[in-house]
Amino acid sequence: MKTIIGNWKMHLGIRESVAHARGVLRSVMGHEVLPEIVICPSFTALSEVRKVLVRTRVALGAQAMGTERFGAFTGDVSVAQLDDAGCGFVIIGHSERRAMNAESDTVVNAKMKLITQTSLVPVLCVGESKDVRSAGKAEVFVAQQIEAALRGVTINASSRLIVAYEPIWAIGTGLSATPADAIAMNVGIREAVKKAFGGKSIALSVVYGGSVNGENAYQFLREPSIDGVLVGGASIKIHDFEAIIAAGRDVMIAQSV
Ligand code: PGA
Repeated sequence: MKTIIGNWKMHLGIRESVAHARGVLRSVMGHEVLPEIVICPSFTALSEVRKVLVRTRVALGAQAMGTERFGAFTGDVSVAQLDDAGCGFVIIGHSERRAMNAESDTVVNAKMKLITQTSLVPVLCVGESKDVRSAGKAEVFVAQQIEAALRGVTINASSRLIVAYEPIWAIGTGLSATPADAIAMNVGIREAVKKAFGGKSIALSVVYGGSVNGENAYQFLREPSIDGVLVGGASIKIHDFEAIIAAGRDVMIAQSV
């Protein structure tokens, strides 16, 4: 199975979000084999987009969450509220939030612990800066981010985790990593997750994100060790997103033969 996640970021109003969600649905209609598709609109559009997605094969996700279950936290939205809003997935640790919203490793870890008390699937973003990569420390850096995010997190038989490897230098720059970079990193990510859970197995998907578009998606998706893609900019362009879904479908059909 391949997973395609659209992170709409701070784009689209409610009406535009609904129209775009309908466009995504049109592009999956009539296809039996489909990747898992998750779209993550802004908080304001979640409930209207949810109505569009009910009983379809496109799931709803949120882009962020607060660090507490409930309480006096003005402006925050808790994971319980996201659950209530119909989200099945939530992105945490995105580099934009790490950089601009003080989402430190400690905060990401607290969020992981809250998510595991719900049925939501965490989409944990990790990734190094250009300087860290140039210094040859990318693998170590990412392994440390995973270790910090998963420290003390308990899982059960039905737990699922998506890790998105998103090198910061590839996000929104048009300069994606190579599939070889992602494959090499995914080995380390899988090891780090295994270590963090003491060998206890978890349903783990490792996806790539950073300047994925309709043209380059196939080269990532066709790699067996890359379980999917997390798409920002191209996820709000319907033709690009359609092409990415089609690439996922093609790979799944080819690999099941
Ligand atoms: P991008 O963003 O596809 O626009 O590079 C990816 C992300 O931030 O998740």
